[in-house]
Amino acid sequence: MAEKKLGGLEDVVVCESSICFIDGQRGQLVYRGYDIDDLAAHSTFEEVAYLLWNGRLPLEHELAELHTQLLDAMLLPWELLEVLKQLPPESGGMRVLQVGVSALGILDPQGDEMSPEANRAKAIRLAAQLILLTTTWHRLSHNLEPVEPRHEYGLAWNFLYMMSGEEPDHLAARTFDVALILHADHELNASTFSARVTAATLSDMHSAIVSAIGTLKGPLHGGANEAVMKMLREIGTVENAAPYVEDAVTNKKKIMGFGHRVYKAKDPRARILEGMSQELGRRMDDSSWFEMSRAVEAAFQPRVAARGIYPNVDFFSASAYHVMGIPDDLFTPIFACSRVVGWTAHLMEQYANNRLFRPDSDYVGEKGLKWKPVDEREA
Ligand code: COA
Repeated sequence: MAEKKLGGLEDVVVCESSICFIDGQRGQLVYRGYDIDDLAAHSTFEEVAYLLWNGRLPLEHELAELHTQLLDAMLLPWELLEVLKQLPPESGGMRVLQVGVSALGILDPQGDEMSPEANRAKAIRLAAQLILLTTTWHRLSHNLEPVEPRHEYGLAWNFLYMMSGEEPDHLAARTFDVALILHADHELNASTFSARVTAATLSDMHSAIVSAIGTLKGPLHGGANEAVMKMLREIGTVENAAPYVEDAVTNKKKIMGFGHRVYKAKDPRARILEGMSQELGRRMDDSSWFEMSRAVEAAFQPRVAARGIYPNVDFFSASAYHVMGIPDDLFTPIFACSRVVGWTAHLMEQYANNRLFRPDSDYVGEKGLKWKPVDEREA
């Protein structure tokens, strides 16, 4: 067993939560009591959103009502549309989401309302609006007209439709729906913690989501899926996978999409996505990305399994998204479009039983120094 490193709050319990359970040794993930395999096999992203927000699965009329609320919220205020049009096309999607959610907080009639009802309504709007923001930004930055959602379909189908302007393949839409389910929550991951820290000052929901988006952006967290695709492009062929891994190991470079703070077994989400990526590759007649991912896993896994390093959720989502026709720069914003459901569930839990987060640090700096006028100071 490797020695524990300082910092990183590893194993430190900072709150009680009834939203998500992870058994990192067994590779188990549970939302509100339901195993992720069960939800991935049978549920939809909307149903999982209801579950995470309300603590139970919806009845039929509750699900229908949520569907209507989500689709009704898919309308960007004209002021925000004008802001988006002013941004340079190369602005990254995560920065655009930060700008967009800040603006939505200003424009939301309940922006500063803190009642549970207002926060629940805002959570629904945010889940719809992040998808709308991501797809609208994608089209505007490619000089394309935004596409309006179709009310008879769910969020996953609409994401792909509003991104490309074309009705998605049935298997692609279902795979994407499952990917959104798998990314929806993950206990006290870095971005969720960041959201809860902001909320614990009794700041509003939109401000907390902006914090979370900034945290998710980093390549050690949500940014890893885009980094996996970059790696696969560099590798280029199945034959190149083993030498690439060899070189990374020799030069102590990380293989993106591997390793996890909590999982010391294969991430259950990677397990599910692996099968879906393989099936989708076959269906789209483009299995090369999946095969390359497999070859990286085969070359790298035996070298690091003893240290508890296995593929994580980002490893197989990259090849799956790619064959669905999703551009790399949307991978991390898609993570945000899903995780906003978990973030907002955690925020509601935080507001309901709040205590300010204020940890401590060991001071290792100097003491007792005396101020000198600027002309008497030495370099
Ligand atoms: N490739 C190669 N080595 C890895 C690795 C990877 N993907 N992930 C961890 N390691 C190694 C580290 O180099 C370190 O080795 P050392 O002790 O010899 O220095 C050891 O394993 C511990 O890694 P560390 O980064 O300190 O652990 P952590 O708990 O902070 O890391 C992650 C968790 C996710 C940040 C880390 O595994 C990582 O950077 N993975 C790649 C990025 C990624 O896929 N992120 C998405 C997570 S869902």
